[in-house]
Amino acid sequence: MTDPAADGSSGPSTAPVSFPADFLWGTSTAAYQIEGAAQEDGRTPSIWDTFARQPGAVFEGHNGDTACDHYHRYPQDVDLMAGLGMGGYRFSVSWPRVQPTGRGPAVQKGLDFYRSLVDELLEKNVTPLLTLYHWDLPQELEDAGGWPERDTAYRFAEYAQLVADALGDRVSMWTTLNEPWCSAFLGYGSGVHAPGRTDPAAALRAAHHLNLGHGLATQRLRAALPEDARLSVSLNPAYVLARTDSEADRDAARRIDALATRVFSGPMLHGRYDDDLIADTRRITDWSHVRDGDLADIHQPLDGLCVNYYTPSLVSGVTAEDAEVERRDGHGASAHSPWPGADRVAFHQSPGEQTAMGWSIDPTGLTELLLRFSREAPGVALYVTENGAAYDDKPDADGRVDDPERTRYLHQHLTAVHEAMAAGADVRGYFLWSLLDNFEWAYGYSKRFGIVRVDYETQARVPKASAEWYAELARTGRLPE
Ligand code: NOJ
Repeated sequence: MTDPAADGSSGPSTAPVSFPADFLWGTSTAAYQIEGAAQEDGRTPSIWDTFARQPGAVFEGHNGDTACDHYHRYPQDVDLMAGLGMGGYRFSVSWPRVQPTGRGPAVQKGLDFYRSLVDELLEKNVTPLLTLYHWDLPQELEDAGGWPERDTAYRFAEYAQLVADALGDRVSMWTTLNEPWCSAFLGYGSGVHAPGRTDPAAALRAAHHLNLGHGLATQRLRAALPEDARLSVSLNPAYVLARTDSEADRDAARRIDALATRVFSGPMLHGRYDDDLIADTRRITDWSHVRDGDLADIHQPLDGLCVNYYTPSLVSGVTAEDAEVERRDGHGASAHSPWPGADRVAFHQSPGEQTAMGWSIDPTGLTELLLRFSREAPGVALYVTENGAAYDDKPDADGRVDDPERTRYLHQHLTAVHEAMAAGADVRGYFLWSLLDNFEWAYGYSKRFGIVRVDYETQARVPKASAEWYAELARTGRLPE
């Protein structure tokens, strides 16, 4: 299906590309993926600690117990960022480190870690962007029902308040949720992420309670933080392409757009769930979990909207004939879909190059999504909070990693960001995923997204060639030709 030669347009543009002087250049990480120290200083298991211990859930049984040992090595990691000339750093706070049972008072040691991290960043002139939730729900809250239960949204707002009270004097950029689509639909729908449940109705309820948690937390943050605090959310909107212009394919694209993107952007940006989304999922839920007042609670003014983007989604409508072939060959019979109500949609590999994740490369998606949000949320600053690529890069005899594919991917996507800005999108910063190689969820440590290599045996960090390239870009604001 994939024909690299078919994609004649994937070369980087040769036009000089400059970014504004105050553009924020940074990198992104997440607590469970890098911190380790899973049992230290009062931290209790999150759903990812539990999930990673289920046989077959994560590649070769890997888990985040040690990860990059960032909990102990954060000063060195901040030095690394400063050495690369980074202006910003996006990290997440581990909920079970700060509030182990998801209820009650905060654990001082947990808060102290993030205070020290932030102080270290500020001292080196790296602006912190704090994400409150990057998928590590305290296991006790999952035991009480997790995100499909309304109470989890209230618990999240309370936790947001604890973190705001502790760090509000030194962190000015805040993000509530990271990629709530993954939490809801991979966590409770397909089950490939923690907690590994496969219940489509629960996934849709989780999506709503994540929305509600975002809205309630935003209200708490607004009240608790200084006036100049900037509040945002990180979404992973899908760039959906219909395989043909047929009605069936266009309808498939519409369904996926609703389930991937509008299920979050609808209530968060516009205070509504679109009628087509409700109609498409009616068979699965009657949406009675949405109570009066919820949409107003979710629809809070935001200062920033953060986009995570990696790859496009090429879809078609499944014809009766396709469905027959599926049945006959038994494909997908046991797989659970992360797309409730879209069982008549097929996903296809786009033509052209792929990264080590098997994700095809299409930078146009980033331009389009930034322009879409700039239209949908006028006046709201946009940030790219994740973009990057996994490759099977190998160190040479001296330990150096030459990773031209990653650099090329970054170059293409930053050109795409610049195109969106030239067309009017107010993009203020770019946080590359990721600073370090790290625990790539169900893929464990088998996929490396870092611009800095981590040797998991020794915990040595070695900047790859892409890190040097990115440092030069951050220094000059200009994409090399
Ligand atoms: C999305 C997630 O937010 C991040 O945790 C993950 O590692 C990257 N994408 C790459 O898959």
